[in-house]
Amino acid sequence: MNFFLDTANLNEIKKYAEMGIVDGITTNPSLIAKESVSLEKRIKEIAEVIDGPISAEVIATDFENMVKEGRRNASWHKNVYVKLPMTPDGLRACKVLTAEGIYTNITLVFSLSQAVMAAKAGATLVSPFVGRLDDISENGMQLIEDIRTVFDNYDFKTKILAASIRHPMHVTEAMKIGADIATMPASVFDQLFKHPLTDIGIKKFLDDWEKVKSIQ
Ligand code: E4P
Repeated sequence: MNFFLDTANLNEIKKYAEMGIVDGITTNPSLIAKESVSLEKRIKEIAEVIDGPISAEVIATDFENMVKEGRRNASWHKNVYVKLPMTPDGLRACKVLTAEGIYTNITLVFSLSQAVMAAKAGATLVSPFVGRLDDISENGMQLIEDIRTVFDNYDFKTKILAASIRHPMHVTEAMKIGADIATMPASVFDQLFKHPLTDIGIKKFLDDWEKVKSIQ
């Protein structure tokens, strides 16, 4: 199970990378916009910190320009995964880029049939958006489970990247189902390793130690 950080914020990336818990990074136009930085500059900066997949999304929506942008993004670093929207043109671009040996990530996936189309187009990763489905009263995690079943049934090699993660239960459920990757914001990383009993335990050990400190 790989954990990706869903951010373009360099300080956050450095902080969690130092703990050895970040296997890759996902960015999207909204996350880049938050940082007011050029996509190329930020992807190159991230690549200096993280030795793993880094998703860089195309902005174009037509086939020719998606391929052009995809090739450009991929030229920035060997670990760049070109993120393409789940549209007919996105799938065409995916097929072309995949044939050139470029890693791809089909994003904005909200149904099983979309995930299968992405796999058939040769996508390296497929990104079903769990939280955004939950937001509209659909079961995002059920989609992850269905994709896992079908990819296993037919031996599709495309990896399942559970995206739009909102809380730790999304991560634990995704792990149990067998998603290959979960990408999450820093706030969810924090919630994953925090436990009140750990904090209480540390405090008790230190309080007890204080009582015998003088004889150490
Ligand atoms: C990552 O690849 C996705 O773009 C991201 O997880 C979307 O998350 P959101 O639904 O919280 O914007």
